[in-house]
Amino acid sequence: MGEFTGKVVLITGASSGIGAETALHFAAEGAGLALVGRDEGRLEKTAQDCLAKGLAKDKVLTIKADMCVEDDVKRIMESTITHFGKLDVLVNNAGGASPCSLTSENLMENYDRDVRLNVRSVIQLTNLATPHLIASKGNVVNVSSVCGIRVMANMLPYNMAKAAVDQLTRCAALELASKGVRVNAVNPGTIMTPIQFMYGHSDEQIRERASKTHPMGRAGETNEVAPAIKFLASNAASFITGETLSIDGGRHVACAR
Ligand SMILES: NC(=O)c1ccc[n+]([C@@H]2O[C@H](COP(=O)([O-])OP(=O)(O)OC[C@H]3O[C@@H](n4cnc5c(N)ncnc54)[C@H](OP(=O)(O)O)[C@@H]3O)[C@@H](O)[C@H]2O)c1
Repeated sequence: MGEFTGKVVLITGASSGIGAETALHFAAEGAGLALVGRDEGRLEKTAQDCLAKGLAKDKVLTIKADMCVEDDVKRIMESTITHFGKLDVLVNNAGGASPCSLTSENLMENYDRDVRLNVRSVIQLTNLATPHLIASKGNVVNVSSVCGIRVMANMLPYNMAKAAVDQLTRCAALELASKGVRVNAVNPGTIMTPIQFMYGHSDEQIRERASKTHPMGRAGETNEVAPAIKFLASNAASFITGETLSIDGGRHVACAR
């Protein structure tokens, strides 16, 4: 018996990085899992890793879906409820960034893509999940970013999108508090996942840069984010809502000199 035995947790972006690690942490606590991603092979790998934590086969559901396609997002919620009959925790983790500035030629295209993936899909899925979360007195954890609080150069649409996720977290928390549903977010700094390699930098280069930009002198790892997500979703956080929790080695409090 684990802390989440009997609970159902839906995690988007579970095929990689922070989402995959978060799935393992909930699996270790006995949660039933609905795991979402586009890459079937990597999604199946996460599912197998969760089963290896001791979950019964019917406690892990994989859903191949593109968060940018409305019908796919609807199918995520329908499949989860058809399979498990309820939802206790929604982890809105899928996300991504398009390197882009105000003067980039493809600004509007990148803006539309980043907002659709990081904000619109989160609003849509949260909306669909809300009746089930009210029924279960459940909660939501959004995966935002230090970019929601501070501005990272050449990431204009992503910075804006993650700031919107932070404000959505507060809006939803306020709206759902009286219905017994909590809504929180985590704001990671540089965490060593595939998303970090989009500029073509090596592992060593990313770690070297992070050692200068993060006051704690290093990048973070997925197993430093997943426990915070699990904490916010747990009864230990029963009086916490509307919180955006930085997990960034102090990056958000730093100021360049
Ligand atoms: N790593 C960091 O430094 C960092 C820092 C701050 C915030 N974050 C946030 O953390 C979250 C997880 O990112 P990560 O670092 O774990 O990166 P990652 O390893 O690249 O994982 C991204 C996940 O999002 C999914 N995804 C992306 N686009 C999707 C789409 N259109 N439809 C469905 N799923 C989609 C991917 O699934 P498929 O590939 O299977 O489609 C993958 O599972 C993101 O919201 C990101 O913005 C990361």
